[in-house]
Amino acid sequence: MTDRKKTMFDLSGKAALISGGASGIGLAIAQAMLEQGAKVLIASRNQDKVEAAVKQLARATETDQIDAAAPIVTGTGLDVTSDRSVEAAVKRTVDLFGRIDILVNAAGVMLRKPTFELNPADFNQIYDTHVTGSLRCAKAAGHLMREQHSGCIINLASISSFVDLIEVAAYAAAKNAVLGLTRALANEWAKFGIRVNAIAPGFVPTDINRKMIENTDRGRRILEHTPMGRFGEAREIAGAAVFLASPAASFVNGHTLVVDGGYLASGIGDSTAWWTGGDGSAPAIAPGAE
Ligand SMILES: NC(=O)c1ccc[n+]([C@@H]2O[C@H](COP(=O)([O-])OP(=O)(O)OC[C@H]3O[C@@H](n4cnc5c(N)ncnc54)[C@H](OP(=O)(O)O)[C@@H]3O)[C@@H](O)[C@H]2O)c1
Repeated sequence: MTDRKKTMFDLSGKAALISGGASGIGLAIAQAMLEQGAKVLIASRNQDKVEAAVKQLARATETDQIDAAAPIVTGTGLDVTSDRSVEAAVKRTVDLFGRIDILVNAAGVMLRKPTFELNPADFNQIYDTHVTGSLRCAKAAGHLMREQHSGCIINLASISSFVDLIEVAAYAAAKNAVLGLTRALANEWAKFGIRVNAIAPGFVPTDINRKMIENTDRGRRILEHTPMGRFGEAREIAGAAVFLASPAASFVNGHTLVVDGGYLASGIGDSTAWWTGGDGSAPAIAPGAE
């Protein structure tokens, strides 16, 4: 690992468990936390994917301590819909690092379907992963954080926690519930030294949504509604996670940090829309608009 100057975003000595940490936003968060000095255990269902991601992280952060008795980054299997699997992943974090300071709930699945075709089993599976899964992980890690009297939990919310994104009702319901869970835990567990916050990312092409938004009509409409005129990158979400886990956020609790290029701020349109002259060819005020 290269030398770093310590800042208020420093995570040296912190131990992090990141569900869904083998790809996309979870993987970017793992890398950013490693870069700030944390020790990281990434976890998801597909063991091959986890192993490949651990190697990628070790390369990116210039650490070769992936197999050592005292690793800096390693991985484990985890299914957040299973109590036993969650308990095992949290135990593994503590066995490896001696403590658990940071839990990131980034495991996620997505289902797009007209709601008339959405059956309760589909709905429950989405809910179980995002909401009950986050609760399972939070409780298992929270017991240990309470003993330490310190800890930080970061949940992944979404733009669909705030506005409808059409034909993703189960995901929307789950991501709304993530906001409630975040506030409830933040309120109940502050007295145990545990802060609980959420990040609501804008649109970041990853395995969960790439087919839906890259080179599609849906994606085009998203970009038209995004003042910054582009999708986000997973790394741009990771900065928010480092902030929330760091001493810089020591008084931030129960908050949902939106990182969306201005999507939620844009209301009826954005500065790239033709009627604002954003494309350079249309007049600043549409003819007859005065
Ligand atoms: N990308 C976006 O635009 C966006 C926007 C808003 C919110 N989010 C949220 O951000 C989080 C990360 O998503 P992402 O975009 O990074 O997608 P991603 O690359 O597909 O990552 C999701 C990860 O969750 C893991 N996972 C799924 N079910 C699991 C389970 N039952 N137990 C453990 N791990 C499980 C998957 O790995 P395995 O298959 O190996 O289990 C996968 O690596 C999700 O909560 C997502 O809803 C994403």
